[in-house]
This record gives sequence, structure tokens and C-alpha cells, in this order.
Amino acid sequence: MYSEKVMEHFKNPRNVGEIENADGIGEVGNPRCGDIMKMYLKIEDEVIVDVKFKTFGCGSAIASSSMATEMIKGKTIEEAMSITNKAVAKALDGLPPVKMHCSVLAEQAIKSALLDYSKKNNVHIDGLEDFDLTEDPHEH
Ligand code: FES
Repeated sequence: MYSEKVMEHFKNPRNVGEIENADGIGEVGNPRCGDIMKMYLKIEDEVIVDVKFKTFGCGSAIASSSMATEMIKGKTIEEAMSITNKAVAKALDGLPPVKMHCSVLAEQAIKSALLDYSKKNNVHIDGLEDFDLTEDPHEH
């Protein structure tokens, strides 16, 4: 049912933890399953120099957040903004259809952390204008 990559990231998740004095902190939750994902970003000159996460949730959510952190580390804000839940799932060699919403949590956690960064630093990030945290991940 799960790809080897999903199992591998679930067993050995990358970038777990917190960043002290993070430049952006995002927290998202799925109202239906109750799973919660928190993401911390360290940003220097528009580049995500460090990222850590904590996920209280299912295995697919843990694997998705682990993969998502790997995908945005060292990338620019713009590049991180372009990462979709589908890209995360694809990088994991797929997720079962009923688990696709878990990857949505990872995409939302990144955007939520970037939104926090943009508010704290009064910077504008393209594409965040219509970001709606209240959107139900199951609808995707
Ligand atoms: Fe809730 Fe996976 S079941 S995020």
C-alpha cells in the first residue's frame, strides 16, 4: 500500500524538531482527523537556510512533512511557494488516494510559515494573497 520512500521517511524523518528564533512558524491542522503539523523556517536573503517540523499525525503526514522540508531547504521563497502537495506526494513515489490529503497538510504548513514570515517582516509574497488556511484539505 505504501511506497518504500514513504516508509523510509516515516521511519527516519528528516529535519524533525524546532528552530529557536525561527523567522516564520506555521501551524496547520486537519479538522477531520485532528492531525497537526508545525513548521519552522529560518530565512536569510529570501532563501530558506533551515527548516524543521513537528507533526502529530499519521504516517503519511510525517513522511510528507519530512519530504517537504527536504524539498524547500536551500530554496528561495518563490521556489518554496511553488511546491504543491502533488509534488510532495510524487517525490514520495505516490500516496494512496485516501492519504492524499495528508500531503496537503505539508503544502499548507509551508505556506502558513511563509505567511507568518511575511507578516512579521512586512514583506509581500506572491501567491499568498488568496491562501486560505481554513480550506478543508479533504476537498483537494
Ligand atoms: Fe490526518 Fe493523514 S490522516 S493527516
